[in-house]
Amino acid sequence: MAARPLLTELADYRPLQAFATQLQATSIEALFAADPARAGDFTLAAAGLRLDFSKHLLSRPALAGLLRLAEQARLPAAITALFDGDKVNNTEDRPALHTLLRATSSHGLDTEFDEVRKGRAQMRQWAQRLNNGEQSGFSGAVITDVVNIGIGGSDLGPRLVSEALRPFHGDISCHYVANVDPADLQDTLLELDPGSTLFIVCSKSFRTEETLTNSLAARNWMLNAGASVADLDRHFLAVTSNLQAAADFGIPAANCLPMWDWVGGRYSVWSAVGLSCAIAVGWEHFEQFLAGAEAMDEHFHGCPLQANMPALMGLLELWYCNFLGAGNHVVLPYDHSLRKLPDFLQQLTMESNGKRVSRDGRQLAYSTAPVLWGSAGTIGQHSFHQLLHQGTLLCPADFVLPLTTHTGMPEQHRRLVANGLAQSRTLMVGRSADAAREALLQRGLDEAEATRLAPHLAMPGNRPSSVLTMDSVNPSTLGALLALYEHRTFCSGVLWGINSFDQWGVELGKEIGTRILAQLAGESAGGDMDPATRRLMDEWRAAQG
Ligand code: F6P
Repeated sequence: MAARPLLTELADYRPLQAFATQLQATSIEALFAADPARAGDFTLAAAGLRLDFSKHLLSRPALAGLLRLAEQARLPAAITALFDGDKVNNTEDRPALHTLLRATSSHGLDTEFDEVRKGRAQMRQWAQRLNNGEQSGFSGAVITDVVNIGIGGSDLGPRLVSEALRPFHGDISCHYVANVDPADLQDTLLELDPGSTLFIVCSKSFRTEETLTNSLAARNWMLNAGASVADLDRHFLAVTSNLQAAADFGIPAANCLPMWDWVGGRYSVWSAVGLSCAIAVGWEHFEQFLAGAEAMDEHFHGCPLQANMPALMGLLELWYCNFLGAGNHVVLPYDHSLRKLPDFLQQLTMESNGKRVSRDGRQLAYSTAPVLWGSAGTIGQHSFHQLLHQGTLLCPADFVLPLTTHTGMPEQHRRLVANGLAQSRTLMVGRSADAAREALLQRGLDEAEATRLAPHLAMPGNRPSSVLTMDSVNPSTLGALLALYEHRTFCSGVLWGINSFDQWGVELGKEIGTRILAQLAGESAGGDMDPATRRLMDEWRAAQG
């Protein structure tokens, strides 16, 4: 990608600041009142998803300004570059080809697509083999449980997809271990029989401390249960781009599924990193998951900006972050099966766009990725929604609202939907002090008490939210949903002028962690550490007895 002008250098940046100031003096409700077509017009549909972005502090002229800004930032050319396989990851000199992982044609990237197809064939074989009961362990028992050992992108995506698609699961149970805290592995293994357990060591680099440590412990667990070293081939698969390291660990090439340097970990659930999901839901459902994502890719690639859902969501993120001062973004899936969505999106958005220099290394003088947080509705309503409604922070929200349930309990699900819609509306309308006072009088309080309490019940409202609906959570809509947020993240990165596909900021902590580990193990002295770290290491030593 050629160097682009930075956000603050774009022609529409200043006019948009003026729009933001004007809009801060109005209300979303006033925008609805002045524009009867708003509820219908501020909606988009793509790949089985529908986005209602009408409850935003955004007027038609401001929206038009944002779309011009996207043109000025050359977003359309950046989208083309992404799909063409240009080296959009300029600091690592690589393309970012996650869209190819769910493509049904090569888009001119024949060599890479060939590898993708081979990888898919391997995935299908393993998924079918396991689901057909054709893989047995060292004791002769058929494999019934699969444990994915990975972290970050090698964990969060598969874990989310597997949990979200629980109604589609077959007979094999999938488990996920990520943390280097031994309790994570220990808790998981407690319920498993070594003879019928298969581990997938999922690590693009095969160098990640947490994953290697847990894999070694899993290997020992298997050996201690009576498996021989030769038996381990029945119990360990790897997904990696580092075949040598996998072989050194003891996993032969025949048990390795591929990963490539042109796929970022957080964009990799579509590859063999998603093998545990393909095993859990079966190959046909996994293909539907890929197809849903591909449908979103086609929309993103082909649709003009004004109707382009990921682009629009990226612009909204920019609008709140850079023009209205929101430093966070809350995602509220009103569906228990999507409760891991905020975790997944945290890595996707904050590892991608938590950057402070431009693609060409210039220091940025504006905010980038807001903190993303959230949890499943209605759980959050009884904890942090207080802050959403009456706190001092502006928290733009995404409500993710599947319209039907797989539970067979539609009446109870209706309550969930009512709560989601109520929260989105309440954020917008709030309640004035007068209305609060009136409500208190109605409850029988006297004038003095109603006046005293009214400010505590008043809610400013005018708090923005999107509502993203789909008929149900199924493989296809889930694929579309994850691809939507991937592309939205890319759009925001382009608008901020940053490279969304590297993650240099995670390196130094790993290096220092390695040095501290050596010092805790007594293998080196702690002289190079600061006094606070030295004191804490002493405290740890004392606790070891
Ligand atoms: O440390 C961050 C990170 O590199 C993520 O980007 C990645 O998803 C995760 O670690 C796991 O990496 P790997 O798949 O190589 O073990």
